[in-house]
Amino acid sequence: MDQEIKIMVADESHLGYVDTILDTIEKAAKVRGTGIAKRSPEYVKQKMLEGKAIIALAGDQFAGFCYIESWGNKQYVANSGLIVPEQFRGHGLARKIKKFSFELSRKKFPDAKLFGLTSGAAVMKINTELGYVPVTFADLTDDDSFWKGCEGCVNFDVLTRTKRRYCICTAMLYDPAVHGKDEEKARLGQNSDAKAEKKESKSFWAKLKDLFS
Ligand SMILES: CC(C)(COP(=O)(O)OP(=O)(O)OC[C@H]1O[C@@H](n2cnc3c(N)ncnc32)[C@H](O)[C@@H]1OP(=O)(O)O)[C@@H](O)C(=O)NCCC(=O)NCCS
Repeated sequence: MDQEIKIMVADESHLGYVDTILDTIEKAAKVRGTGIAKRSPEYVKQKMLEGKAIIALAGDQFAGFCYIESWGNKQYVANSGLIVPEQFRGHGLARKIKKFSFELSRKKFPDAKLFGLTSGAAVMKINTELGYVPVTFADLTDDDSFWKGCEGCVNFDVLTRTKRRYCICTAMLYDPAVHGKDEEKARLGQNSDAKAEKKESKSFWAKLKDLFS
């Protein structure tokens, strides 16, 4: 792809793209034969005004989109509505948009668990690269307004029949508490100076104890 594509946080200057975005999402869902969490133009506009939407543009041509939603009192965050128009696919753009959105979500909601429901191989691959792991639906938010979004899906009957325990989509979760610990461990492992200092101070106290015993 020769054209330069810019990925940015959408703002009021991008409101004019909302109809194109929703139209592209709807057409892609029809092609895939899946349902979607249908969003109104007002909802997407609001996301842009709140700085919770990411847009990719090739010049002034729409090239990709995704937005951030929070659920369960901001304990859970989802990156939803990922779309790349056909002519821009296959060049790693979805991966870049998802990474951008992931980093923005971590910045805006550092303590929230990031999650997603997907039946798409591309999203499963990208999420895995970002550190998400597959989980059961029980690990996701129990916020009814999130699950209401599934009503537009062709498989909604499966979700209701199983009382929200199973469906066609794979649930994926990134838990900062788990990842945070891994990062801390990695930091401690690398910080040999701190380890040496700790060892040194221990031997100092041991020597002192010996002196007075
Ligand atoms: C899914 C979608 C966003 C991918 O966009 P894209 O820019 O072509 O994706 P990328 O080029 O960043 O691909 C990322 C990875 O996913 C893989 N991938 C992309 N599309 C794929 C597909 N349909 N099936 C399997 N793997 C796919 C790519 O091979 C790439 O992996 P690699 O680099 O190891 O080869 C785009 O096809 C789309 O908008 N589809 C319709 C809407 C949709 O399905 N949204 C997701 C809802 S959960």
